[in-house]
Amino acid sequence: MFFVRTAGKQDLEAILALLSETWHDTYDAIYGPDRVAEITASWHSRQSLEAKLTQLASEFIVADDGTRIGGVAFAAWSDQQTKRVTLHQLYVHPDCQGQRIGAALLGEIIDAFPDANALRLEVEPANEKAIGFYRAHGFEKVGETKDCGGRTGIPAAIYERPLATD
Ligand SMILES: CC(C)(COP(=O)(O)OP(=O)(O)OC[C@H]1O[C@@H](n2cnc3c(N)ncnc32)[C@H](O)[C@@H]1OP(=O)(O)O)[C@@H](O)C(=O)NCCC(=O)NCCS
Repeated sequence: MFFVRTAGKQDLEAILALLSETWHDTYDAIYGPDRVAEITASWHSRQSLEAKLTQLASEFIVADDGTRIGGVAFAAWSDQQTKRVTLHQLYVHPDCQGQRIGAALLGEIIDAFPDANALRLEVEPANEKAIGFYRAHGFEKVGETKDCGGRTGIPAAIYERPLATD
């Protein structure tokens, strides 16, 4: 059974492997394996992941069953004024999908930002599985970008979910 906990330095190798395997499984059919290998190599370096472990006002979590990491999520404040948080990463390993791990990670991310008004994310428009998941969890499309993550030249749909604040 998987439980959700904060990510640590000891998880980085397993997270890197999970990101690479999940990216190939999800995006090879869309971008082609060579382009996916290129993107994961530049986006998912050990150094960039390690920086996320200590990033202020952020939440970096994994789903762990005691033997392996089945999923990972990372979110951070993007706009303190509008109280918006961005979900930068939500990946469940292909072997572990459909077991409510994605839902558990998303729930933990939401709980980690009790003062946020909205949770925003960017998603590949052809990634129907992810879009189905996000829509089932209350996200609506609010826009589009030509530059997913702000540095890539990859188009993406922008989805957002309002969050209840007390
Ligand atoms: C999208 C993803 C995060 C979902 O995680 P998951 O653990 O497989 O999903 P869950 O088992 O938590 O799904 C929970 C609920 O979401 C809904 N759901 C999940 N996938 C769905 C889909 N394709 N269409 C509609 N609803 C969906 C269902 O209501 C499900 O509830 P159920 O168990 O009662 O059927 C996961 O499949 C994944 O990592 N995919 C590859 C990487 C990816 O695309 N990440 C997002 C990048 S932006």
